Amino acid sequence: MTADNTLPGPYLNNDKTSFAWPSARERWPSIIESIIKDVQQTIEETVLAIEKEKEAGTGNEDPSVKILLLQEKVEEGKVIITQTTQLLEDLKNDKPLIPFEGTEADLLDYNKELARIGPLTWLTAPWLFSECFMYRKLASFFTAQKRWVTYDPYARQKDDAFKASKEGVYELAHRYKELAHQLKTHRITPESQRLLFKEFTDISLWGNATDLSLLTNVSLDDIKTLQGAETRKKNEANILANDLEKAYESLLAKREATTPVGKTVRVDFVLDNAGFEFFADTAFILYLLDSNLADTVIVHPKNYPWFVSDVLPIDVLTLFSHLSNKNFFTDAEHRDDLDAFADRLVKYHADGKLLIRTSPFWTTYHSFDEIRSDGAGKAVWEDLKDSDLVVFKGDLNHRKLIRDLEWPRTTPFKTAIGALATSGIKVLTLRTIKADVVVGLEEGVEAELEKKWVEMGNENKLGWAYSGKWAVIQFSDGSN
Ligand code: F6P
Ligand code: MG
Repeated sequence: MTADNTLPGPYLNNDKTSFAWPSARERWPSIIESIIKDVQQTIEETVLAIEKEKEAGTGNEDPSVKILLLQEKVEEGKVIITQTTQLLEDLKNDKPLIPFEGTEADLLDYNKELARIGPLTWLTAPWLFSECFMYRKLASFFTAQKRWVTYDPYARQKDDAFKASKEGVYELAHRYKELAHQLKTHRITPESQRLLFKEFTDISLWGNATDLSLLTNVSLDDIKTLQGAETRKKNEANILANDLEKAYESLLAKREATTPVGKTVRVDFVLDNAGFEFFADTAFILYLLDSNLADTVIVHPKNYPWFVSDVLPIDVLTLFSHLSNKNFFTDAEHRDDLDAFADRLVKYHADGKLLIRTSPFWTTYHSFDEIRSDGAGKAVWEDLKDSDLVVFKGDLNHRKLIRDLEWPRTTPFKTAIGALATSGIKVLTLRTIKADVVVGLEEGVEAELEKKWVEMGNENKLGWAYSGKWAVIQFSDGSN
């Protein structure tokens, strides 16, 4: 977090005009309540499993060991519920943020920052810091319990939402199969290559409109209206800043420079949400690999359950298996398209062309101007500086890129990303706007959006910025 006085201040949870206000007071409590429910459900299922085990009596194995482990899980689950309920109470009653007890490096780093900028209370703290702190706290309750270390309290929601996205999934898998055929049988002209790059970026961008941390009040049925080609087309005019051409030119130049000497082109994805968004990202990834625009793609998920729907390493493999599972996507007429899609992903993964790489940095509170040789994100910088394009997905990554500060909205993107602009890292951010911080708008656009939002029947003119209806695609080549 910045201590530079020349910079604007951070968004705060007690700013009534910011989305921070309802986030901390309504969305976070509802997210924490669903965690409690989820753990309760798992405890109930574990109790049933114990009873079943007991009924089964003695087999070859000693059943008592299994029962003991399950009982341990139940007891530990109750501890998690107590801690989570306490956190919920602290949040609702605007109590202070309590330092972490663990000794992992990232936890000590959170504590150090809290000591530096604190003491803080939940409903008055800087938004980004407190939100990361909350998700890290929640994760720490699980990792402290032996039988729950890898438990994802959002997994059920992730799966349900992905199932509810089936129409978008079928449409895209079909589109991809047709395209894969064309890529095999036709020479793709430079113009179509450019258009396809645009199409798949768009798919990956608007896939971000459906993250679960925002959909606390939206039914699963509503999700499908947010997806699909028609919706994307309608949304075209809602991209407020668009540097896609520059990003494409930069990648193409790399491809053309490396082809004769046989070097490889590498693209990275700093991922956001599992389910439909990640599926849409993989369509983009398949296109990059199938069209030879890239030779390797590295995806960067989170180490801990994060902002509800973010991709964990396991979610990458789960996506492959969900796509090929006829009990997950049950409509037989789409089976071939889904299998073809999944097979390609599995093959690229097995061939080492699609890699998964994690870093503890992604679940810190640090903004991404720390991704530099002397910053908290040094290890990530060392890795990403070798990439030919780093795609940052989604709202949270974007908030961290532009540091969640109260920038005037006409601030150039490269100013807002600070040291990252000269870090050598080629940044492409695909973000549907779901939080106040926005930069890179032309003069007058903000006023137009406010007017339009009110004309659309909304009371608060500032709400356009957290509606998820507008987006930005911004690029920095890392050199100036
Ligand atoms: O804007 C609300 C919010 O919860 C932010 O806190 C967070 O940045 C975002 O939504 C999550 O969205 P995404 O999944 O696109 O990062
Ligand atoms: Mg997310």
